[in-house]
Amino acid sequence: MKFHILTLFPAMFDGPLTESILRRAVESGLVEFSLHNIRDHAVDRHHTTDDAPYGGGAGMVMKVEPLVACIEAVREKSSVVRVILTTPRGKPLDQQLARELAREEELVIICGRYEGVDERVRELTGAEEVSLGDFVLTGGEIAAMAIVDAVSRLVPGVLGSEESAEADSFSDGLLEYPQYTRPAEFRGLQVPEVLLSGNHLEIARWRRRRAVEKTFRERPDLLATAHLSAEDRKYLEELAEAIQR
Ligand code: ADE
Repeated sequence: MKFHILTLFPAMFDGPLTESILRRAVESGLVEFSLHNIRDHAVDRHHTTDDAPYGGGAGMVMKVEPLVACIEAVREKSSVVRVILTTPRGKPLDQQLARELAREEELVIICGRYEGVDERVRELTGAEEVSLGDFVLTGGEIAAMAIVDAVSRLVPGVLGSEESAEADSFSDGLLEYPQYTRPAEFRGLQVPEVLLSGNHLEIARWRRRRAVEKTFRERPDLLATAHLSAEDRKYLEELAEAIQR
């Protein structure tokens, strides 16, 4: 999978792309990154990439010409279909979108900056606006890194075992169950007995219940679309009743 990242600050990507799992993914040829400096496509002699908004107001808006030129240059040499623009105005990134994007061969991510991006960029390039959540970052670079990370780990072979991507939070629409490792006791806190029992059926059942409970407490909105069994539903009823008591 190849990511084309369009940014005014390519150096911001040095760390995240050259460490740990993403570095390994690049070294093994599973993932490729191409950083494009939007400023290289500016059309005036001062290499301007932003300007004051029409209609007035604070801040600067990213100009249309450099961005469209940059995307067209990428498209000339690739088979890119989807273009993502990071902005707090966008559709929130979730695991379903990450899975969908991981099926693409190539992806363009435009890092939005300043107060926004000239609306004609979206119209001319068909860019899809994606947000990390309901908060404002100083720019879209960190959001782009989050997208790259969430998508890359779903590319087959990037994680050590395919299982680890599947057992994660959200794979079933639920938050993850709690995990423990050695020692079995620390400062008086014991690891739940069932996890030491070796009874795999009981362990699976306990984990499922903890995942349902965690989701019920922290993100009840997820329960509407989670894949729930009859046993899960019964347990949820018990949790809801316990709260009313
Ligand atoms: N740029 C600024 N804030 C953002 C957010 N929440 N998500 C994506 N891009 C952003």
